[in-house]
Amino acid sequence: MDSDAPTQPAGEPKADTEGQPPDRRRFLEIGLWTSVGVAGLAFMGAGGRFVVGDALNPQQGQWVQVGEVAKLPAGQVHRATYTARTKDAWRSSDRKGLLYVSSDDGTNYTVLDGTCTHLGCNVQWTDENQGFHCPCHRALFSRSGTVVDGPAPKPLAQLQTKIENGVLFALI
Ligand code: FES
Repeated sequence: MDSDAPTQPAGEPKADTEGQPPDRRRFLEIGLWTSVGVAGLAFMGAGGRFVVGDALNPQQGQWVQVGEVAKLPAGQVHRATYTARTKDAWRSSDRKGLLYVSSDDGTNYTVLDGTCTHLGCNVQWTDENQGFHCPCHRALFSRSGTVVDGPAPKPLAQLQTKIENGVLFALI
């Protein structure tokens, strides 16, 4: 051992080549690699989104056929069911639904979603009440879908409609 070599006093932290204490250098390394990791994750997220596009979003807004206008005379409430195909990034499934259609003039149609706004049971039109009755917790809706009685928090959903080639469609 060279006795002329400088010795470091015991208990002092070792200095690195730039004269910084090792703790500070380690801190800077951790900060650098954390920044690189965060930038990498952000890049992968943007790249992944580019690859899958809108496939992760559930399909929004689908026109379903309600029925031929000629078979939906004015002044009555008609019941219609539909099955719509929905899909997301991984699977597709059939969604069944219930609609009620009415018209005062045979030109303008009102289509209501038959799903009760309380807990989702199917409502039923009753002539004696001239309204939609929910069998689950006895909510009652008017012909236009407003809440008349019971626990339902909001009216039945009214759907956008269109008529093409004599067929009524609703946007679910
Ligand atoms: Fe219709 Fe409760 S689900 S009143």
